[in-house]
Amino acid sequence: DISMNHIYFFFVFFLNFLYSLFFLIKKIIITYFVVWNVRKGLIHSDNIDLETVLKECSGALDLFLNNRFMDALALLKPRRNQSMYHAMGYSSILVMQAGMTFEPKDMDAAMSSLGESLQTCQKFRKKVGIIESLSNFFYRQQAERLTEEEMHAELCYAEVLLQKAALTFLDESIIGFIKGGMRIRNSYQIYNTLTHFRGGVSMGIGSFNLMLSLLPSRVLRLMEFLGFSGDREMGLSELRSGAASNSLRSILSTLTLLMFHLYISVILGIGDGDLKEAEALLAPYKNKFPNGALILFYTARIAVLKGNFTFAQEKYLACIASQEEWRQIHHLCYWELMWAYSFEQNWREAYHYANLLSKESKWSQAVYVFQKAAILSMLPEEEVTELGENVVQLFRQVEGLRLKIAGKSIPTEKFAAKKAQRYVSSVPGKLVVPALEMMYVWNGFTVVGKRPELTENILSTLEKTEDQLRNETHPSEYHQDDECLVQLLKGLCLRELGRLVQAEICFNRVISSENNIRHDTYLVPFTMYELGLLHKQKGDITKAISVIEDAKMNYKDYSMESRLHFRIHAALNTMGSFAAKLPPSRTPA
Ligand SMILES: *[C@@H]1O[C@H](CO)[C@@H](O)[C@H](O)[C@H]1NC(C)=O
Ligand SMILES: *[C@@H]1O[C@H](CO)[C@@H](O)[C@H](O)[C@H]1NC(C)=O
Ligand SMILES: *[C@@H]1O[C@H](CO)[C@@H](O)[C@H](O)[C@H]1NC(C)=O
Repeated sequence: DISMNHIYFFFVFFLNFLYSLFFLIKKIIITYFVVWNVRKGLIHSDNIDLETVLKECSGALDLFLNNRFMDALALLKPRRNQSMYHAMGYSSILVMQAGMTFEPKDMDAAMSSLGESLQTCQKFRKKVGIIESLSNFFYRQQAERLTEEEMHAELCYAEVLLQKAALTFLDESIIGFIKGGMRIRNSYQIYNTLTHFRGGVSMGIGSFNLMLSLLPSRVLRLMEFLGFSGDREMGLSELRSGAASNSLRSILSTLTLLMFHLYISVILGIGDGDLKEAEALLAPYKNKFPNGALILFYTARIAVLKGNFTFAQEKYLACIASQEEWRQIHHLCYWELMWAYSFEQNWREAYHYANLLSKESKWSQAVYVFQKAAILSMLPEEEVTELGENVVQLFRQVEGLRLKIAGKSIPTEKFAAKKAQRYVSSVPGKLVVPALEMMYVWNGFTVVGKRPELTENILSTLEKTEDQLRNETHPSEYHQDDECLVQLLKGLCLRELGRLVQAEICFNRVISSENNIRHDTYLVPFTMYELGLLHKQKGDITKAISVIEDAKMNYKDYSMESRLHFRIHAALNTMGSFAAKLPPSRTPA
């Protein structure tokens, strides 16, 4: 169960959009690479009209990075049955679109175009007889026996399969999930047979290892069963060498590294992404494509993680203004803007973007509506009425808006629906500081912690809530849970402010109230994890490891369990309780 959740979470919320984006760019880069090889006489082929491929593909890449997505598509379309690189580029754009819109018709179009691309690639792959394919089944296929072009065909084939797998995960059935897993496995094996063929491959191997290294051991075991293993350092260094190789082929590796430092390590880790490296990686593209939507988006994200929210807001707005073709990129910006204003407790602006999301984006209506209601809960009641909104009604909608993917719910949606449940009763119970709770769910306290004065403001909001709870004359059934939530969040603020003794008191209050918590059972294991990080900050690694191991081993069946296991895995990695090959810990400044 937990492993499934990991994978959905991965695919649906973060990887899906950016992942497919990377693939398109990667494909185009490979095209360059091939054309370069062809020009140097390394590949001989009657099927590729060199000059046209060169011109069209460099044209498509430029169009893409300059936000003219539909023009890039139109350029690739006519030759997609003859050239595997055109085919891949074309289907990648459709996959990307499907991943962003979630529309069944876009999904169908992407799926059938992937099928056609597979056929196109198949034309260029080495034909093997039955005897040979049997021996390949038992012994690994010898990449040395392939011509350069056949290797490219293998690579393209692997990538199309991988995209197909990613898309299959969004399908509605458990069979789809298994098929997806098998496709990933096949494509990984192809990558493995091509290891000496650098360039295109180092990216594939690098990102596989990086992704897998994030997975907690329980999930990893499942993946190992499917034939994977993950080595984070190897993954990072493959990607770094890919990024450093030369300016054209490096784009994809660069984007993957950026996503790792700027998203994955924040949400599924302890927020120790390397911002310096991220900035250095982005710098050349900033000069070349100053108005590229993707570049602006990442520039803004770096600013967010540095705590420079004003600058980030400017850049997100510039990103929105840079193009109209793909509204879905606007939605990503709205999501980020909503958080950037939430960190400042500018709830009116945060509401503005949450509202836009709930009206325009189909990704996760349940989360968007919950988020909007949560933000409204932070405003005085008069202001909510003035905005024409009704918090109770909004919370009541959440349950009905939930998505099922492959028959499973998305953890964040499940969490939101569970929290919203107290509004279902005819005498609704109120959530305390729900927007700050969601901020914690997305690990936002490590971000806002970069700005002590904003952290102080959040702390004072929490202290007011604490007072209100203490003054309650008729405590509800949620009273103890709410008090514990406030203590956890207070502890986080205090820890970020370096007031470690007070933070420890808050955390211990939550842990000692374990038996009184009735609904939010997630609070205790999450608090133990945070207490562990506090011990680490004090330099007491032994204690840190023991508290975190306790949270890992002795609790289960609570909300957001997978997310905590990811974070625990990352935290323990930095404390050397795992393999020695992992990098030394980087304590956030
Ligand atoms: C490519 O092949 C598909 C089916 O295999 C066909 O429907 C489509 O018209 C072809 N496109 C071109 C440009 O030849
Ligand atoms: C935010 O970043 C911009 C551009 O890097 C810089 O000019 C500005 O001083 C920064 N502001 C803060 C508060 O750090
Ligand atoms: C709670 O009660 C104390 C003392 O009775 C009072 O000073 C304080 O203002 C009250 N706080 C809130 C938020 O109602």
